[in-house]
Amino acid sequence: MTGASKGIGLKIAHILAEKGYNIVICSRNSAELKVAQTSIESFGVKCLALRLDISNYLQCKSFVEKAIKRFRKIDLLVNNAGIQGPIGNFWQNDLKKWKETIDINLMGTIYISHLVLPYMLKQKSGTIINLAGGGAAYSRPFYSAYSCSKTALVRFTETLNQELKGKNVLVFSVAPGAIWTNMTKTALKSGAKILDKRSINELELLRKATDLAFYKLEKLFMYLIDKKPKALSGKLIHVNEIEDIKKMKNKIKEDSGLLRRVGYKS
Ligand SMILES: NC(=O)c1ccc[n+]([C@@H]2O[C@H](COP(=O)([O-])OP(=O)(O)OC[C@H]3O[C@@H](n4cnc5c(N)ncnc54)[C@H](OP(=O)(O)O)[C@@H]3O)[C@@H](O)[C@H]2O)c1
Repeated sequence: MTGASKGIGLKIAHILAEKGYNIVICSRNSAELKVAQTSIESFGVKCLALRLDISNYLQCKSFVEKAIKRFRKIDLLVNNAGIQGPIGNFWQNDLKKWKETIDINLMGTIYISHLVLPYMLKQKSGTIINLAGGGAAYSRPFYSAYSCSKTALVRFTETLNQELKGKNVLVFSVAPGAIWTNMTKTALKSGAKILDKRSINELELLRKATDLAFYKLEKLFMYLIDKKPKALSGKLIHVNEIEDIKKMKNKIKEDSGLLRRVGYKS
């Protein structure tokens, strides 16, 4: 798992640890990693915690090599690490921060997936879950770097799924819904001058709904990991719709729910 020292990543790590998964986590903060590692191991599983920056390919390489050395195989890859990036009008954004957002959110996921996939293909099984985010399925003003990085991730998931057909490796994008974490706190703090009152109220409300949000996330993750629904591979799945999706799973057309053009019939 990438970026599981806190927030959604740590919660997913706890869910998986409770089910008996040994887990490898990373982030850029050693102290937070240590605390996260101890909390994961308290479920009675093994946890390897490594400090690294996923925007650095060589560090990603060493991460995957150490994971394989320790646990021999990788059943599941959760590409969770991400940053919010610059908030505000695009033309006023710091371009270095804009690029950093793409380097972490998109390239970090690309690096790790590129390094992990050969192992999954060799073992003829595996699941990859990419955390999407606000702006991947609609435009999101004031978060252009974040939304572009997440939209690209969704297309990456769609494309990879096509290439993985018949190989027993599934890849999903998950939209976890807004959850009260360090990321949303930062959005509230630095976006207060830019965001309208409604957006601010919505962010404030998250604080009270954390348990429900994590409950929904657990249901979706365990469904994807345990049931491995092939019809959903390649798709962006929203956490709220899981019950509906389960019911209509066999009716989902191969090309539905993908990024599309207006006015083009294929
Ligand atoms: N919270 C939401 O409402 C929400 C909604 C939709 C999607 N998401 C997505 O869910 C994922 C997790 O978000 P969150 O809310 O849990 O954020 P968070 O609380 O800020 O946690 C992000 C995690 O990623 C790590 N990380 C960031 N940059 C990294 C890097 N370059 N290398 C290694 N690790 C890195 C962070 O650790 P360090 O910073 O210490 O490295 C931290 O462990 C993100 O992909 C986010 O876009 C969140």
